[in-house]
Amino acid sequence: MRTGPRPNPGPEPGRRRLLHSAVIAGTGFDVPERVMTNAELEKLVETSDQWIVERTGMKERRIAAPEEAASDFALAAARRALADAGVKPEEIDLIIVATVTGDTLFPSTSCILQDRLGAKPAAAMDVSAGCTGFIYALATARQFIATGEYGTALVVGVEVLSKITDWTDRGTCVLMADGAGAAVLRASSDADRGILATYLAADGSRGPDLCMPAGGSRIPTTVESVKSGLHYLKMNGNAIFKVAVRSMAESVNHVLRAAKLRAEDVKLLIPHQANLRIIEATAKLLGFPMERVFVNIHKYANTSSATTIIALDEARRSGRIAAGDVVVMVAFGAGLTWGGVAIRW
Ligand code: ACO
Repeated sequence: MRTGPRPNPGPEPGRRRLLHSAVIAGTGFDVPERVMTNAELEKLVETSDQWIVERTGMKERRIAAPEEAASDFALAAARRALADAGVKPEEIDLIIVATVTGDTLFPSTSCILQDRLGAKPAAAMDVSAGCTGFIYALATARQFIATGEYGTALVVGVEVLSKITDWTDRGTCVLMADGAGAAVLRASSDADRGILATYLAADGSRGPDLCMPAGGSRIPTTVESVKSGLHYLKMNGNAIFKVAVRSMAESVNHVLRAAKLRAEDVKLLIPHQANLRIIEATAKLLGFPMERVFVNIHKYANTSSATTIIALDEARRSGRIAAGDVVVMVAFGAGLTWGGVAIRW
């Protein structure tokens, strides 16, 4: 007869039921009304429509009005996602906003959004992971739902990059834009639907390649820091290009392995919209035909943490995602950070 400690019986049946799927119940996005074309940029810096289209794929972008801030776009996107999901603000348990251009350094934009939505007393926090922000925020919200801690989460990616852009720097000003996207995440007992796998990674040693040097506690905002332009986004575009392709391909492979899926199982790949050449090189490395890759960079350029969720909403509303389809979202950005998420619709 067996003696000694009993083998671990595993989680009790009741406890197992606490583990939920997190499904995307609704999405929405909002962008500023003002369209800025490449022709306008030609008047600001020494560039050309041809260079921008050939080197980036961007044709136009949306730029906020001087009085507009991140929470204005986040609010409109969140309202659309809530209406799409049929969820009332008071049903939200958790709000996560991914942004590096929030209304203020503090309070967080998620708290501002919670108040403007009327979602008290939902927990609210911001996530700073550059362009990978929405993926980081979605993965975080999913954990709270999977454990049974929360039933409904609102996840937003929003940026107003135009406000930290040096409009005399042609290396960055042609790329950056403004906008917001939102998703409502709900707990579900259907284990085959919703978020199947996530992957998050970072390399903090590469931070200087994409940063805003001033405005924090290292270089506080002073007359000198502003005179030196340290309150603007700085980027080593070439160095990031190489990391971007490698890290996005790595992220896709990770989530596919974790979800036990093959590349052929993916109906739509939704990559961060930073540069069409990065998107095409990533798709090539992964062996994905471009017909299965969603691209809207020509309309909205790089809205950082908002690109993937704006793209997901557009893809859904244009009929490119049906029930049962597998969608993979993938991004890279400041940090440097990168990551992906696999979802079954
Ligand atoms: N118009 C005309 N010429 C330009 C412009 C412009 N807007 N920008 C740069 N050039 C010039 C350069 O000065 C250079 O000229 P030179 O050969 O005389 O020195 C030439 O074009 C080639 O420059 P590269 O930097 O090699 O151009 P590249 O093809 O690499 O494109 C770009 C630059 C678009 C920035 C690209 O490197 C890129 O997309 N990098 C990744 C950007 C990115 O993804 N950032 C991360 C996300 S942003 C975020 O997190 C907020």
